[in-house]
Amino acid sequence: MKNPFYLKPLPLSVPFCDREKETADLVRYAENFTNVVLSSPRRYGKTSLIKRAQNQLSKKGILPIYIDYFGISSVDEFAAKFASAIYAAVYREKSFFEKAVKIFTSLRPVIRPDTEAGLAVTVEVSRGKSGMRLLEETMTGFSEFLRSGRIKCNVAFDEFQEITELKESKLMEGTLRSYIQDQENVSYFFIGSRRRILLDIFNDKKRPFYNSAINYTLPPLPAEDTVKYLAGLFSESGKKCPVNIARQIHTLSEGYPYYVQKLSYFIFEAAKNKVTDADLSEGLSQMLSEETPLFELMLQALRPRQISLLNAVAKEPVAAPFAAEYIDRHRLGSLGGVQAAMKKLSEIDYIEKTAIGWKVPDPLFTLWLKRNEAME
Ligand SMILES: Nc1ncnc2c1ncn2[C@@H]1O[C@H](COP(=O)(O)OP(=O)(O)OP(=O)(O)O)[C@@H](O)[C@H]1O
Ligand SMILES: [Mg+2]
Repeated sequence: MKNPFYLKPLPLSVPFCDREKETADLVRYAENFTNVVLSSPRRYGKTSLIKRAQNQLSKKGILPIYIDYFGISSVDEFAAKFASAIYAAVYREKSFFEKAVKIFTSLRPVIRPDTEAGLAVTVEVSRGKSGMRLLEETMTGFSEFLRSGRIKCNVAFDEFQEITELKESKLMEGTLRSYIQDQENVSYFFIGSRRRILLDIFNDKKRPFYNSAINYTLPPLPAEDTVKYLAGLFSESGKKCPVNIARQIHTLSEGYPYYVQKLSYFIFEAAKNKVTDADLSEGLSQMLSEETPLFELMLQALRPRQISLLNAVAKEPVAAPFAAEYIDRHRLGSLGGVQAAMKKLSEIDYIEKTAIGWKVPDPLFTLWLKRNEAME
C-alpha cells in the first residue's frame, strides 16, 4: 500500500486535518475584503491552508491570486511575480486576460507548458522600466484591473516579510500601502513565518502598514482531530494505528503539522499490519536523522553565544532570560551579549515568547538540541 502521508506540500485533493474554522474565517475575511496577516512558526500549514481557502473563494466568484515571495531579490522581481500571478489567475477567462494584457503594458505575459502546473506564466519586462516605477505601474495597473469589470479578488502574498531584505523596502512599504488602501473589491493576505519581522511591519506605529490588517495566528493542530485523522489514514491504507499511538504522535509533534505528517510517514514505513511502540520509536529516530543535516546547517549560521542561549532555552524555557541566575547557570556570558543573541534568535524565529516564557517553537529542533548537547 502507498504511504498516505506527505513530506511535501499537500495537494488540494488529499485529506486535510482540521483547520475548518481557520478556512472559514479566512474565506469570510476575504468576502468582507478585510486584509489579514497570517503568521505561525515555519512549516505550520499556512501555505496549504491559504491554497484551500483560495480554492473555496474561487468557487464563490472571488478571483484568487497567489504569490510566493520566498527569496526575492529585487523590486522588479516583486512586480513581475505579481503580474505573472495575475495573468496566471485570469488565463482561462479570455476577457479578463485580454484586459490584463492591455493594462500591464510594461509586463508582457510569456506562457509555456509546464509538466507540473499545466502552464507556467512568467512576464517579460519592457526595457527601461524598473525599480519603484515598475512597482507603481504594476499597482496602478492592478487598481485599474479591479475597477474595470467589477472583479473581486483575494491576493495572497506568501513570505511577505522577505521584502524587508530589499534595499528599497521602506519605499515599497509606503507605495504598496497607499495603493492597497485605495483599492476596492480586494483583500490581501500577508503570510509569513518570520513572525517578528512580519508582525513589525503591521504593528509598528511608525510604519505605513500600521493597523491595516487583522492579525491571525495559526494554532497547532488539535489533539482529537489529529488522532482521528491519523487513525483514518493508517487504516484506509491497510495498517491499524491504535488510538494511544496516534495520540503519542500528536504529543511528540506538539500538533506541529509538518512533524505530524513526517513522523506518521516514517512510522507507516516501519509498521507491519498494526503500529507498535517499537514502530513509533523507529519512526522518531528516522525523522530525527532525516532532519539532522538541516538542524546542523541552522546551527552553523549562528555564533557560539547564540548557540549557548539556544541550547539553554531548549533545555529550560524561561520567563526571565536576563536574570543573573539563569545567565550564570547556563554560562551565557555578559548581559549585553545575551540581549544581542536574544534579538537575533527571535528575529530568525529560532526562539519565541509565549505565555510560559521564551521557548524554541520547533519541537523536533528542541529534542535534537537537547540530545545533541547531551552527547557533547
Ligand atoms: N491541516 C493539515 N493536515 C495535515 N497536514 C498538514 C496540515 N497543514 C500542514 N500540513 C503538513 O505540514 C507541511 C507544511 O505545510 P505548509 O507548507 O503549508 O506550511 P507553511 O506554514 O506554509 O510552511 P513554511 O513556513 O515552510 O512556508 C505540509 O507539507 C503538510 O504535510
Ligand atoms: Mg509556506
